[in-house]
Amino acid sequence: MGAWHAGKDQLTVPIEPSLRSTLPGAYYTSPAMFEIESEQIFARSWMCVGRADSVARPGQLITVQVADESVLVTRDRAGQLHGLLNVCRHRGTRICAGPAEEVSSVRCPYHGWTYGLDGRLIAAPNMPDMPDLQKERHGLVPVNVTTWAGYLWCCLDPGAGPLLAQVEPQITERLGSAGALGAYQPESLAVGHSVTYDVAANWKALIENFTECYHCPIIHPQLTAAVPEFRSGYGSISGGRFHGAALAERMEAFSSSGKAVRRTLPGLAPETGRLFYGVILLPNVFLILVPDHIGFFRLEPLGCDRTLVTCDWLFEADAVADEGFDPSDSVELLDITNRQDFAACERCQLGMSSRSFRDGGVLVPSEHLITEFYRYLAGAVGLPHDEEWPARPELLKAR
Ligand code: FES
Ligand SMILES: [Fe+2]
Repeated sequence: MGAWHAGKDQLTVPIEPSLRSTLPGAYYTSPAMFEIESEQIFARSWMCVGRADSVARPGQLITVQVADESVLVTRDRAGQLHGLLNVCRHRGTRICAGPAEEVSSVRCPYHGWTYGLDGRLIAAPNMPDMPDLQKERHGLVPVNVTTWAGYLWCCLDPGAGPLLAQVEPQITERLGSAGALGAYQPESLAVGHSVTYDVAANWKALIENFTECYHCPIIHPQLTAAVPEFRSGYGSISGGRFHGAALAERMEAFSSSGKAVRRTLPGLAPETGRLFYGVILLPNVFLILVPDHIGFFRLEPLGCDRTLVTCDWLFEADAVADEGFDPSDSVELLDITNRQDFAACERCQLGMSSRSFRDGGVLVPSEHLITEFYRYLAGAVGLPHDEEWPARPELLKAR
């Protein structure tokens, strides 16, 4: 019997009670699944798209990607924030290509239709030839945009609820209360360092990696040396449910040296000291909360096998502004850990397209939390929770 039958055999034999099934392999490797996710999740959810201070001043404009759409985020002269599809209403040209500008209006480079920063059509060449043109019918199409926790968030779905309805239940589930993140005062922090990782892996593989610590003793020698309880494979390094794991006695800070070089963030109670929390805010944010800084991860899924991950290290703004500011100690430990995680996800991605992974793999008890992510996915793509994942993701559409 060929090795590729092994998965089939596993399906016919009930899984051991201590294990759970992963998704079938195609769910991580097929463009069809990515298309479904793009439509049903990324285009319907609030997506974190960048720093709020990148459009802090009137006249600022940035271009961001939301699901399969290019979106302009602007701040008009009155200080109002706008999200607008980056598509000219004349003949469909992508209006802005660059990442950031300071402008008073937006002019399409093709025939010169000009829009205000609020999206209104202001002018078009040869307007007298079309005296009946109703300019208000041809403005740029609006997109929901808001700021929260110091970041910009967009949602393509005009009927979407507020961002807080999306993030607060997730914060409550992991930190115990919706306000627990507020104690870190994320909106007052500044970026002390930022790295963008181009990861050749499916975004779900990254979420699953963040959710479990079974891999910690195997791939994170620096992390587990610094924080011994992560050796058990049950730590909270990878986020997931709130565990509140205390750092080891000798660690004063979550950094390579373990030495505290900064004070605890001012909103935190003293007893918060030396705690480490990982929080996933589906679908595209992951937070690491430690006493003196936050690691803010933003995922940009680019395809079924490619995800850009931007990790910002957020510190007190005064500390970042200080001449002698040096975040390298904090950056090093998390950056090494990130690279280990992403390399593991890339290797996993390589195997997921194999025949032997056609029916997926298994989750051990310390990974069972990942099934909650599968429940979220099932809900988002309209799969009733008592139904099995179809063998091919295309069948989700046919149902
Ligand atoms: S396509 Fe934009 S002005 Fe013609
Ligand atoms: Fe990890």
